[in-house]
Amino acid sequence: MGLVNVRIIAQQYSSNMARKLMFGSRYFGKGSPDGGPGDEEVEHADSLSIILAYVYAFCITDYFPWLRWITDLDGHEKIIRKAILTARKYQDHIIDERFQQWKDGVKTKQDDLLDVFINLKNPLNIYEIKSQILDLIVATFDNVSNNIEWAMAEMINEPKILYKAIHELDKVVGKERLVQESDLQNLNYIKACVKEAFRLHPVAPFNLPHVTTADSNVAGYFIPKGSHVIVSRLGLGRNHMVWDDALTFNPKRHMNNDKEVVLTDNNLHTFLFSTGRRGCPGMLLGSTITTMLLARLVQGFTWELPSNEQHVDLKENLHDLAKARPLSVIAKPRLALHLYNTS
Ligand code: HEM
Repeated sequence: MGLVNVRIIAQQYSSNMARKLMFGSRYFGKGSPDGGPGDEEVEHADSLSIILAYVYAFCITDYFPWLRWITDLDGHEKIIRKAILTARKYQDHIIDERFQQWKDGVKTKQDDLLDVFINLKNPLNIYEIKSQILDLIVATFDNVSNNIEWAMAEMINEPKILYKAIHELDKVVGKERLVQESDLQNLNYIKACVKEAFRLHPVAPFNLPHVTTADSNVAGYFIPKGSHVIVSRLGLGRNHMVWDDALTFNPKRHMNNDKEVVLTDNNLHTFLFSTGRRGCPGMLLGSTITTMLLARLVQGFTWELPSNEQHVDLKENLHDLAKARPLSVIAKPRLALHLYNTS
């Protein structure tokens, strides 16, 4: 292996996972001849990125909805509609075909989430299922890939941290087999690295906007019914009053003797999955797939910077909190070659 763009592999991993969960297959088509994603999967993942970028974007018509009748003022609607159509071009016909298979009795066994949706006791109609599936695929996409890119960038910059993570994997899993889901409960340092990357590098500066349905008092502040409430993720995760040396990547701060490290934080010291009734329903799945990817990358490869770079540049984008330049590093296998053959 050579120079690897960690952003691309992490994004493809998240969307492969989502497609496999929903439709029982990583790829829409055959993938590329080298076993990676094909053009369809790349276009699908790109459309998910665009949808997410505009979900978080400031849009004037969210605040002055009557302006929507005049025109798509900031042009967001046109862009997001196009991205949704692109994602749906690949997804919706699978849903139509599967619906028909169940109707015709060709399919009788539930193999993936799409089958589960079709067979709910209180059934959803096909339009609702299409929307739910798009929602879940989008929800699985960005948090995982953004987290892994930042975790790897921070760890490569701090060889002691990377070494500690490798040491944990070698101790818990060894080098004779790949790390499995059942190992994750014992990989506290790896989980602490994931949690620390979520604390320091959330996927967006603010939470998705919520609107209060009743007058409320929070921490002494009166919030009238109908207010838009937007929580600052950075205000929590990088808060100097809560975290010592808040801007330093230090996974050790999440280790608590022999107690298992969990990513959830209902006290909202970090925003991570949020909390309460509108908190993330995919917490367990999100924790598992994120931790699994970091564990596999650290266990499976040695990671080095290209010879012309002294350290990873940790600059953020100006418009969101993604890494300004995608992380490109040299990966070399560190396990026996037969372990990489997953076909
Ligand atoms: C590590 C990965 C993930 C993180 C950090 C994460 C985080 C979040 C956050 C912060 C919210 C917003 C909560 C709020 O507005 O208060 C959310 C909402 C949501 N997440 Fe996740 N999520 C992850 C993975 C997933 C996965 C894998 C799924 C499902 C397959 C999922 C499904 C959802 C859904 C459906 C919502 C909307 C809930 C609602 O508005 O009622 N998430 N997530």
